[in-house]
Amino acid sequence: MTAPEASEPSFRRFRRLRRTAGLRRLVRETRLAVDDFIYPLFVTYGRGVRRAVPSMPGVHQLSIDQLPAEVEDLRRHGIGAVLLFGIPETKDAWASGAYDEHGVVQEAVRAIKAVDRELVVITDVCNCEYTDHGHCGVLIDGEVANDPTLELLARTAVSHAAAGADAVAPSDMMDGRVWAIRRALDAAGFTQTPIISYAAKYASAFYGPFRDAAESTPRFGDRRSHQMDPGNRREALAEVVTDIEEGADAVIVKPALPYLDVLAAVRARVEVPVLAYHVSGEYSMVKAAALNGWIDERQVVLETLTAIKRAGATAVITYYAKEAAQWLADEAGAARAAAVATPGD
Ligand code: PBG
Repeated sequence: MTAPEASEPSFRRFRRLRRTAGLRRLVRETRLAVDDFIYPLFVTYGRGVRRAVPSMPGVHQLSIDQLPAEVEDLRRHGIGAVLLFGIPETKDAWASGAYDEHGVVQEAVRAIKAVDRELVVITDVCNCEYTDHGHCGVLIDGEVANDPTLELLARTAVSHAAAGADAVAPSDMMDGRVWAIRRALDAAGFTQTPIISYAAKYASAFYGPFRDAAESTPRFGDRRSHQMDPGNRREALAEVVTDIEEGADAVIVKPALPYLDVLAAVRARVEVPVLAYHVSGEYSMVKAAALNGWIDERQVVLETLTAIKRAGATAVITYYAKEAAQWLADEAGAARAAAVATPGD
């Protein structure tokens, strides 16, 4: 079979615009930038602690005195936002460490703001790291009780705002928490503190490694009575719309890669920023394969983050933030070097 004459094209040549790196770069629809990344930090009690999380190679629990060095490292990478989780020294049935004015997250916010006022500090608002049973709220007859938990969440959010958090991110999936938190923030004078709600958060096995990192595995049972069923997409839209009606300024879809359809549907439906959480299990799977030499980590991660952004994410919460930032900087450096090596005539 012979190709049609060049003057009479009878099929479309998509490959023309893929021929060189320069052309591909020119027509690329989705670009990753360091501005897209939010880096999660696990802050623990004690001093001088930098404890590796075994199921998440490269991720550490840090004590508060380690935060200035960490902030410096983030600044070097150009990362502009962090999401804080706390591991308290003691846990109880009422999660009192969560709303303690001098709790681990509250003090971490102060420590970060003392060295860098510009870094955007978002705090995770949930009880699971603070309850002795590991559930996200108050237990009544062995069930997570919705309405009594709202009060704790609201107190927690206010204490984070008082410490200087730039935004609070409720991740508990109680009904009415955005409403309760907005009311409490406003009543305490924090009318300018945004709520970034984990609106579409699924009951996912991909959170496994996180629960090691945050020491928040439930002692019994699971989180399926409040986190969403993986089979549901329409319900995610209802959750998102409800959270926005209650006062959410931005929403999160979580996990990311297995839920790109949900992310795209949410993006199409609402105008607020939509964040995606590339969660611990997603990180650990890629890390494990990379450490075994089974995949090209850099390419897999950049492809994954690009896909998350292509699906509609305004920003991505990812444990890969620093490495991805470094890879992007390396690419930009290589492109500059290539331009210098082949000057125009
Ligand atoms: C709850 C919370 C969880 C994650 C973020 N916030 C765990 C859970 O719901 O069990 C998971 C994040 C991850 O897996 O990276 N505080």
